[in-house]
Amino acid sequence: MAGKWKSACGRVWIRIPLPTRLAAPLMNPFRGSTGLRLLLAPMEGLLDDVLRAALTASGGYDHVVTEFARVSGTLLPERFFRRIAPELRQGSRTEGGTPVHVQLLGSDPACMHDNAARLASLAPAGVDLNFGCPAPTVNRHRGGAALLNEPELLNRIAVAVRAAVPASIPLSAKMRLGIDDAGRAIECAQALSEGGAGTLVVHARTKADGYRPPAHWEWVARIDDAVAVPVVANGEVWSAADWRRCRAVSGVDDVMLGRGAVADPFLAARIRAGRLEQPDAEERAHEWAALLPLIGAFRERVRHKVEAKHAPGRVKQWLHLLARNYPQAQQLFAAIRSLRTLAEVEGALRRHGVPAPAINPPSTA
Ligand SMILES: Cc1cc2nc3c(=O)[nH]c(=O)nc-3n(C[C@H](O)[C@H](O)[C@H](O)COP(=O)(O)O)c2cc1C
Repeated sequence: MAGKWKSACGRVWIRIPLPTRLAAPLMNPFRGSTGLRLLLAPMEGLLDDVLRAALTASGGYDHVVTEFARVSGTLLPERFFRRIAPELRQGSRTEGGTPVHVQLLGSDPACMHDNAARLASLAPAGVDLNFGCPAPTVNRHRGGAALLNEPELLNRIAVAVRAAVPASIPLSAKMRLGIDDAGRAIECAQALSEGGAGTLVVHARTKADGYRPPAHWEWVARIDDAVAVPVVANGEVWSAADWRRCRAVSGVDDVMLGRGAVADPFLAARIRAGRLEQPDAEERAHEWAALLPLIGAFRERVRHKVEAKHAPGRVKQWLHLLARNYPQAQQLFAAIRSLRTLAEVEGALRRHGVPAPAINPPSTA
C-alpha cells in the first residue's frame, strides 16, 4: 500500500512501494559490499525535479545530477540554482532521500569560479561540470562538448571550480569522448582529474555520434587506465544485461543510467537485486501496477509546476519512453497522444487506473 508522511519542511508526499520481488533486496542494498554505484544522469528538458522525485522514490541511486545551469558571463542569482535544483531547499536530496548534485556548464574559468562559489553557498550534495552537451546553441557559445579539443582550458575550469567549492562537496566532471573522434579523450580526462574533478563520468560517444548507438564502452576502460580518480561509465544502458556488459567491457564498477532509467523506473532496483534477466509479461504487469501511483504523483506535480498547456506534453514524454518496456504505457500513450488539454489527459489517465493523489504545491520559500 502506498503510505503518506510529512517531510521535515512540512510537505506531504507519497511513498511508492516497490513491486514485491524487488522490495526485499532494496531494503538491504548491496552498496558498500560490492563497491557498486548507480547514478541517475542529468537530462535537460526531461529529467527535472518532478521526474527525479518519481524515479528516486524507492531509492536505488547513489546520486542524481541536475540539468545543467548555464554560466555565461554573469553571476547567476541564487533563485536560478534553486529553480534547477529545488531539492537545495531540502538538504539537496530528493524526497526519497537521494543526494542531488548540481551541474554547471560554461567555458570561462573565472566566471565558473564565481558561480560555483555561489552554488556552493547553497550546500549542494555535489557539483558536476558538463563537457558533453552537443546542442548547437550551447556549443556556439563554447559550452559543453565544444571544449573537448581544449584540454588545457578544461584543466583551468576544473582548477577554478575546485578552488571555489569546499573540499567537503564532491566535484565531478562529465565528458564525451571528443568532438569528432576520441583522439584527445585521454588528455581531456587527465586534464579534468588533475584539475580536481574527483570523479569522471564518461558518456562513451563523441559529439558527432550524438545519441546514436553504440556507446564505445571500451574507451571508458582506456580512460580508467589513464587517470587516478574513479571513472563512471555512461551510455546505452537500457537493461540489467546492458549494465552487466557495460561493466565487463569498461572494467569500471560504477554506471550512470540515462534514458534507460526513465524508460524502466525499476531498472536500478532490479540491478541491485541481482536480477539481470528482462522481466516477463507477468512481472511487467506487477511493475505497472506499482508505477500507476508514481505516474499519478508525477502528473500532479507537473500540474503544479508548469503552465497547464505544457503539462500534457510532459506526461506524454514520460509515457512515450515507458512504452519501450510496458505495453500498458503504449496503450495509455496511444489514448492520450492526440489530446490537447490537461483536463482531457487527466480523464484518460483516470480511465486507465492512474490515481490522482493530493500533493501539496511545492514550497518556493
Ligand atoms: C533529453 C536529454 C537531455 C540531456 N541533458 C543533459 C544535461 O543537461 N547534462 C549532461 O551532462 N548530459 C545530458 N544528457 C546526456 C545524458 O546525461 C547521458 O549522458 C546520455 O543520455 C547517454 O546516456 P543514455 O544512453 O543512458 O541515455 C542529456 C541526454 C538527453 C537524452
